[in-house]
Formats: sequence, structure tokens, C-alpha cells
Amino acid sequence: MSYAPETRRRRTFAIISHPDAGKTTLTEKLLLFSGAIQIAGAVKGRKASRHATSDWMEIEKQRGISVASSVMQMLYREHVINLLDTPGHKDFSEDTYRVLTAVDSALMVIDAANGVEAQTRRLIEVCRQRDTPIITFVNKMDREVRDPLDIMDEVERELGMPCCPMTWPVGQGKSFGGIINLRTKTMTVFESGSERRPQDFEAIPLSDEATLRARFGAEFDAALESMELAVGASPAWDHEAFLAGKLTPVFFGSGVNNFGVMEVLDALVDMAPPPGPRVSTLEVNKQPVVKTIQPEDEGFAGVVFKVQANMDANHRDRIAFVRVASGKYTPGMKLKVQRTSKELRPTSVVTFMSQRREAVEEAYAGDIIGFTTHGGVQLGDTITDGANLQFTGLPFFAPEMFMTVVLKNPLRTKQLQQGLAQLGEEGAIQVFKPDAGGNMLLGAVGQLQFEVVQHRLKAEYDADVRLEGCQYTGARWITADNAADLRAFTDAYPLRLAHDAADTLAYLCTSPYDVRLAQERFPKIHFHPLREHA
Ligand code: G4P
Repeated sequence: MSYAPETRRRRTFAIISHPDAGKTTLTEKLLLFSGAIQIAGAVKGRKASRHATSDWMEIEKQRGISVASSVMQMLYREHVINLLDTPGHKDFSEDTYRVLTAVDSALMVIDAANGVEAQTRRLIEVCRQRDTPIITFVNKMDREVRDPLDIMDEVERELGMPCCPMTWPVGQGKSFGGIINLRTKTMTVFESGSERRPQDFEAIPLSDEATLRARFGAEFDAALESMELAVGASPAWDHEAFLAGKLTPVFFGSGVNNFGVMEVLDALVDMAPPPGPRVSTLEVNKQPVVKTIQPEDEGFAGVVFKVQANMDANHRDRIAFVRVASGKYTPGMKLKVQRTSKELRPTSVVTFMSQRREAVEEAYAGDIIGFTTHGGVQLGDTITDGANLQFTGLPFFAPEMFMTVVLKNPLRTKQLQQGLAQLGEEGAIQVFKPDAGGNMLLGAVGQLQFEVVQHRLKAEYDADVRLEGCQYTGARWITADNAADLRAFTDAYPLRLAHDAADTLAYLCTSPYDVRLAQERFPKIHFHPLREHA
């Protein structure tokens, strides 16, 4: 039996926004209206209980940011929708980037008063690089916000792609009357409150102008006028352009009031793409063998895009989040990790049904499954039911800041090593072991990563460490086409070399000139600012 009917009904998307734009609220409403959860407040409630049960998440609580990202699955209109949350804080952009490699589209939430904010901008860049289709939701229309034309203009500029309005607001703030659905040519009337179900909102056909004018007066006329301007200035809806990441549909609403949310849920089903093909590049005898894997291909294959310590502090196990790329997962299946050729023996395999983790019965391309293991899996690993495949594209960025780790109690060396190895494999931080010996180095893209790691080393591994500044300001991963060139280079810089968690050679620099000078001296050496997969 072909897997195509299953893969075609899957939608896997990430929700991205600047903190406070309303991502959590919208997530919750999407879950509520798809029937995945029954009561409002459940998502926030889950956030709170996580704080209570997991020590290291204290950091998250203290700072009011989302350190970890999570996965939720819902069923809507016969479609399986996988929603991936992304950490909002800029210091965790690497983690977010990896989450974005696991999705087929993104839902961008923006605050109508603030427009496109700093953190959203970075996430957009990542989506743009991958041509990920983006759906835009302009939230908080019940507040005094900016002119919708102005917002559209900004979204166009920031995204570098035209907007196509799908709904259009009538008024805003106190005089927010509702939204006009451009496709169905009806106006849905706004009412505030979080109890209402989407189908309970009153809908009036646009053709009934007399009624609309009588009820919404000048706001209605102004909305028609600005809508006409917006439509005139935007291209017609072009599904192919959207799928190519060259056009974004824009929806307006108010998440907290359940308003305009159903339109977004329907857009995910009607517009967002099902899983597409993925490329495997496997080195065989030093030659890359490139293979395109289709979602409906028979063999099971997936890629680890995130590894997270189990929330339960009493257990050392970790969950490897795998995005299924092809085939079908069934319990008891024999799986191997490409990197090590070893069999993967998870203690459990779960799916993420909104609030609960449940044992997976079956999973297809697009789905996210979590393998609980005691080790043996790293970020970027490809997992298959036998075939030799290696998916590429999971990035590690060269760190921009470094600290050395000094253990306060030398008797805890083993714990420190174990902690650093595991946190490095998780991608929480990059760990470098200097070839010349000495203290381990931690490399990060954002300052906060250091604090999280310091906290987790103490809380989870009982390794109390001091982090000290050091002279390094960057690193480049090193490769060469032949061993002699590499040897000449390593002989020249014995004190500048280190190996990372994946045992890849890196050159540590103290200034941007370093790399340039080294490159001039050794033109045959490749200096990589980005390393792909483990
Ligand atoms: P985030 O995940 O993107 O950080 O945002 P979150 O959903 O937590 O929302 C941030 C704040 O914005 C919350 O208020 C939330 O209630 C509010 N909000 C979300 N959608 C809307 C909307 O459509 N209209 C208005 N007026 N507010 C909205 P809070 O005071 O921080 O939290 P809470 O006490 O209300 O939960």
C-alpha cells in the first residue's frame, strides 16, 4: 500500500514570533479549535508545570523566555498537523534554526502594534534561506494598533516578498468591528471574550452593504477603501509562489479572543505544503553519493533535529526528536544510526499529542517522534530501517564567544566530562577540547547559553563550575583535500587547535584577522564557519 495518502494529509509547521506577540495564545487556540485540547489555559498550564518539575527550567522561569521548543500534534479536517514551537530568545537562535529544518512551512505571528520585531527578523532570514513558505498572522487587532496598510508594507519590506491579504480588518481597538474574508466575501463580526467558538461569530455577506454600513458606519467604508488599496497593491493569490517562499498570505485577528484563528487553521490545511523530498548525501569512498528521498518511499528514514535532556531530573535519559522523512514507523521496528552503524535501542518512542506524550503506533513523513535513549544519538544523526542514508543541512554555527570551564571540585571531573559530552551532543553548547590540553572550552552563539549550561551542569550532573573568559573570539572548522596539507597546517598552529563534540578539527581565533592570515598562509586549507550534521 502506498504511503502517499498518509503523507499528503500531513502539515508540519513552526510557529515563529518575537516574545509577547501572542505565539503561546495562538498555539493554544489552534489546539483548542482542532479539538486537540478541551480547555483553554492548558498550554500555559503546561508551561507552568514544567517549571515545577524541572530544575534547570528555573532559568526559563526567571527570565520569562522559552528555552526549549516543543512539538504538538493535532488532527483537523482529516489532516495531521504537527506544530513545532520555537524558542523566542535570540541566544537560542541555533536551536530555532534546527527546528526550522524540520518543518515544511512557518506561521509568523506579529503584534499589530509593534510590527515585525527584531527576533522575528532573524527567524525570517532563516526561512528565507530555505525558501520556507510563510503564513502571516497579524495579532491583537482588538488593541489600538497600526494601520493595516502600514503593517502590510512593513511585512513586505522585512520579508522581501509581496503580501497577499486573505482577511482584512474593519476598525481596530475599541472600534474593532471584525474581519472581511476576501475569498468568501463575508464579514465576520468581532466580539470579545475567550469562551466563544469560531463558528459562533456572526457572519454577514459583503453584499449586504446596507446592514454593514448601518452597523459599522465609517469604519466599514474606511475598511473597504483600504482593502481595495491593499488588494490593488498586492499580486493575486498564487499558490505556487507561496510554496516557493515568494509570497505570504496575511490574516488579521485577535488570538486571545479566538478571533481570526479558524482562518489560519484552515489555511494550514488548504495552503501549507505536505512533506516534500529530502536529499541524502552519503560519503562512500570519499565520494558523495546524492540521493533524493521521497516522503512516500517505502524505507523508514528520519533525522534528529533536536536532542533534549528528559524533563524528569531523576532520569538521565534524553529524547531525540526525529523528523520522519520517508516510510512508516511502527513499534518494534529495527533501526540503525547511520553515523555509528549501530542499532538504535530506545527505551520508549513517543509522539507528542498536544499535552501528552503517547507511545507511537505509526508515524509517516512529516511526523515528529521522540526516541528516549541513554545515548548513542546525536544532533544531525540519520536514522533508517537499514538503508545507508545521511541527510544534510542541520547546521552548527561557529561560536562567537568562548569561556573556559574551571571545575570548583576536581573530584567531580568525571561528572563534568559526562555533562559536557551530553550537553554538547544536545547542541545546548559547543564543547571544544584543546589539542594542546588544558581546560575545556565552551563556545556559544549567545551569552545565555553559558548560563543555562552552568546551571544544568550543577543541577543535573552535580558539577559546580566557574566560567572564565578567554582570548578566543571565534572558530573555524578545518578540512583539507589531502593529508599532507592538513599536517603542515596542524604543525604550524599546535596551540590553536581543538576538537569539538563530533570530533571535528577546529581552529580557534583571537581576532577576525587571524583567519585571514592563516588562510593566506595556507591557501589549500578550508576554513568553515558552518558545520553541517554530526
Ligand atoms: P508569546 O507566546 O508570543 O510570548 O505571547 P503570549 O501568547 O504569551 O501573549 C503575550 C501577551 O499578549 C499575553 O498577555 C496575552 O494574553 C496577550 N495577547 C495575546 N493575544 C492577544 C490579542 O489578540 N489581544 C490582546 N489584547 N492581547 C493578546 P499577558 O498579560 O502577558 O499574559 P496573560 O496574563 O494575559 O496570560
